[in-house]
Amino acid sequence: MTAREDIAAMRRQYGEVGLVEADLPADPYQLFNTWLKDAAGNEIVVEANAMVLSTVNEDGPKSRTVLLKDLTPAGFTFFSNYDSNKGKQIEENNNVSLVFPWYPLERQVIVIGSASKISRDESEKYFATRPRGSQIGAWASAQSTELASRGELEKRFAEFEAKWPEGTQIPIPPHWGGYVISPTSIEFWQGRYSRLHDRIQYLKDKNNNWQLKRLNP
Ligand SMILES: Cc1cc2nc3c(=O)[nH]c(=O)nc-3n(C[C@H](O)[C@H](O)[C@H](O)COP(=O)(O)O)c2cc1C
Repeated sequence: MTAREDIAAMRRQYGEVGLVEADLPADPYQLFNTWLKDAAGNEIVVEANAMVLSTVNEDGPKSRTVLLKDLTPAGFTFFSNYDSNKGKQIEENNNVSLVFPWYPLERQVIVIGSASKISRDESEKYFATRPRGSQIGAWASAQSTELASRGELEKRFAEFEAKWPEGTQIPIPPHWGGYVISPTSIEFWQGRYSRLHDRIQYLKDKNNNWQLKRLNP
């Protein structure tokens, strides 16, 4: 186990390259896309499109990783089980937060916004592109509910596999589909020397225009 002193001593010197207002685009999606591309091109970053989704309801908060699958003017899209813990939390409270933790690039992006289901048509289109095993998995897994054993899950998988043999089309489960997070705030964090990090927050105003401000690190 790592000693407490070792953890306290973990410190990285961050670089010279920063965020300069004059160079920043008016549209935060443009900067996000550049950073996503940088992350995808970095050999140390695995799953550049992974994002930590936080939700909260009366039972309390929860965070978990999901994959960004689309970015449109409507927002950030991911796919999941609508009956899962996250699905239930979003139903009660659709205010959510996303974090893209791109540590090898000394970068982080935090999105705050509201989650809503995408159209059935869009979910169906995406489901059809998924590998067969993932499609069957979506039917077999009652995500977030208790499972008596691994065997029970594998049995359900085999049953659905038999129901839709190779060559047949697997329909989308009614409990499965996409969410889009429509952002009200997108914050870019770039590590800098002496902990004087750059933090630029884009905030949507009443007229749906992005306003940019610099925050203390
Ligand atoms: C790298 C990575 C990517 C993941 N992508 C997804 C995803 O796109 N959708 C999803 O439902 N779960 C995904 N998961 C699993 C979730 O983190 C989580 O375990 C699952 O969705 C159940 O969460 P919940 O019980 O809080 O609803 C991913 C996990 C990891 C580690």
